[in-house]
Amino acid sequence: MTEQPILIFDSGVGGLTVLREARVLMPDRRFIYVADDAAFPYGAWEEPALRSHILDLFGVLLDRFRPEISVIACNTASTLVIDALREKFPGHPFVGTVPAIKPAAERTRSGLVSVLATPGTVKRQYTRDLIHQWASKCHVRLVGSDRLAALAELYMRDGFVDEEVVRDEIAPCFVEQDGARTDIVVLACTHYPFLVNRMRKTAPWPVDWLDPAEAIARRTLSLVAKCNAENFREANGAEPDLAMFTSGKAEFATRRLMQGFGLAPSR
Ligand code: DGL
Repeated sequence: MTEQPILIFDSGVGGLTVLREARVLMPDRRFIYVADDAAFPYGAWEEPALRSHILDLFGVLLDRFRPEISVIACNTASTLVIDALREKFPGHPFVGTVPAIKPAAERTRSGLVSVLATPGTVKRQYTRDLIHQWASKCHVRLVGSDRLAALAELYMRDGFVDEEVVRDEIAPCFVEQDGARTDIVVLACTHYPFLVNRMRKTAPWPVDWLDPAEAIARRTLSLVAKCNAENFREANGAEPDLAMFTSGKAEFATRRLMQGFGLAPSR
């Protein structure tokens, strides 16, 4: 039986934060990384248009790559279409990425938690429902950033990051109220962990930055092991992991970045 790959999907390079954790847990699996860069940034899309765009795109991706499982390594997409994807493709398992509000509510000592996300994720009913369900005893501040995802893209390709922009974008996450301070910031966009060192540096006080990547990788592992334990690839002679960019125009810096992540271009 030929091994089916694990498909990791994002609007850009953010899903690589999930891929690197997934590789640690599943070194013997083959991965296909899909970046919908033609549509980046998802954070700025209207909901109905983005929903149908992603549903159509998955029709093509599932046909083309025949993955065993798809990981939607994007909060902005998951909080909008994860249910619709499961409904449209009932035989195919999907792992979603949604803001880590439950673990944040369990861990906070001050009761003040911030969720740093794209404007799309902040708007979603899904996000509001998570807060209502898991964090009703906390004070949760939702902070939508227009600029951080694009900044992370630039940083990963060119190595440049404007720390003043990072400082301004994260500033609303820091709340002081009745002698208590925010102690947890949920990184609710998969691009943001790439900037976490700059966030630490420009933060007004130390907090825990919650990155869900490892939890998503663990969830994926639990599902693939269950569905298809016999599918593991041989250590030698395996096909390379691939990256596909929907624009079809990944320029040099992007190709170089993908090479650094051990991904060959998919034609
Ligand atoms: N990486 C995506 C997320 O986790 C969003 C980036 C974008 O706006 O496209 O939300």
